[in-house]
Amino acid sequence: MSAILTVDNLKLYYRTRRGIVKAVNNVSLQLERGKTLAVVGESGCGKSSLAYALIRILPRNVHEYSGVIKINGVDVLKLSEEDIHCSSGGYELAESSTQSW
Ligand SMILES: Nc1ncnc2c1ncn2[C@@H]1O[C@H](COP(=O)(O)OP(=O)(O)O)[C@@H](O)[C@H]1O
Ligand SMILES: [Mg+2]
Repeated sequence: MSAILTVDNLKLYYRTRRGIVKAVNNVSLQLERGKTLAVVGESGCGKSSLAYALIRILPRNVHEYSGVIKINGVDVLKLSEEDIHCSSGGYELAESSTQSW
């Protein structure tokens, strides 16, 4: 069965006054059509960061965002800003998720 979501070595690091926060550090996963993936972990372990990273909704203080994300074969990190955000309301979400770190 083919994966609808493939993630390889995904990293999302934030820049803060107290240094770099490695919220997502080398995550790899595959999700097949019709399956459900639950991400479980304690508060602050990076669940939300992972979810936002998958759809490229990022706050302004990103230090590193790298790896490979393919949704139905589309390489999310290689999409233009316009393609990734114009139809999703992503900018509003990104703005509202930006805190004063
Ligand atoms: N924009 C940000 N800038 C700096 N650190 C952040 C930012 N967003 C989240 N963090 C930190 O990244 C880590 C993961 O947070 P988060 O993804 O919200 O975890 P979870 O959803 O599992 O509670 C936490 O240490 C959190 O404080
Ligand atoms: Mg969360």
